[in-house]
Amino acid sequence: MTKRYERMQRDFCLLREGGKAPEPDANSPIELDPQSLLTFVVWGDPQIAHWSALRSMRFDAACRDLGNMTEPVDALILAGDITENGLPDEFRMVGEILNTYSGSFRHLLCVPGNHDVRLRPFHKQIAVFNDFVKSVNGGVALEDETRYFHAVRIRGFKFILMGTDRTTFEGAYLSARQLRWLDEQIALENGKPVFVVNHQTLKGLNGLPVTWLGKGKWRGSVGWESDKLRAVFEKHRNVIFLTGHLHYGTSVYNYEDCGAFKSLSVPTVGVVNHGDFPADTQGYVVSVFEDRIVARSRVFGDGKYVDASIANATVEIPIEK
Ligand SMILES: [Fe+2]
Repeated sequence: MTKRYERMQRDFCLLREGGKAPEPDANSPIELDPQSLLTFVVWGDPQIAHWSALRSMRFDAACRDLGNMTEPVDALILAGDITENGLPDEFRMVGEILNTYSGSFRHLLCVPGNHDVRLRPFHKQIAVFNDFVKSVNGGVALEDETRYFHAVRIRGFKFILMGTDRTTFEGAYLSARQLRWLDEQIALENGKPVFVVNHQTLKGLNGLPVTWLGKGKWRGSVGWESDKLRAVFEKHRNVIFLTGHLHYGTSVYNYEDCGAFKSLSVPTVGVVNHGDFPADTQGYVVSVFEDRIVARSRVFGDGKYVDASIANATVEIPIEK
């Protein structure tokens, strides 16, 4: 164990035991709808940092809410920026917290965010990422450590996990190979709902540039390949695009129905959210039914769903036949 990790653990324990940790209400845990075909939780940006015990504490509180369930969700999805600096110690902290509550999710699906990849050579960092995923019970690891993109099927539904194809600082580089593969993977579903997870959303979607605090034409989005990615989605139907990166609380911006595809951007679970509803530890609980998908925003650290008066507290996505 590194000295840094010892310090991280010590600071986290001091904070958690200092009486200031959020305590999810054990009387209102997430309940699985018996009619649902699939239920998963999606969180953006835990962004665990070696210098912030506060983020670890928020993430732990959110996980504790999952721990209050009587039966596990099918999957927990981390939509990137799992760590601040991509350090093995930071990933280790995330993994140890997750393993404390691993009985509450059957699978862990992870995509990398810009913070996870930005500081080290691509191939070194992909191994650090994969070692982390493998360390978590239920973690769906990469089979091929030369690329982040891969697909997994859970309860008959395909999840496509994307990721940058080179080291980037803020956006993602999506190679022609990844975009071609994505197109093929979606096509194979023949219109059945497919969940595509990437850290960044598309240019101009989910309130950009407002949700990136008004900066730049492409900033906050996937970047230069945004139009090409959108063109892939527009060839299909019932594509549900799940992203993070914006650190923006539940608001009118989270969800956009773009016809062929639907874009759900989730708040940050670990960092401070912007916007009119900036509560900590937000994310979405998503249930899939025969004819629709229902996504409900939740403040996991409180163990409560977001009040219906907040825009996009509940999102209903019709499944097109
Ligand atoms: Fe990010």
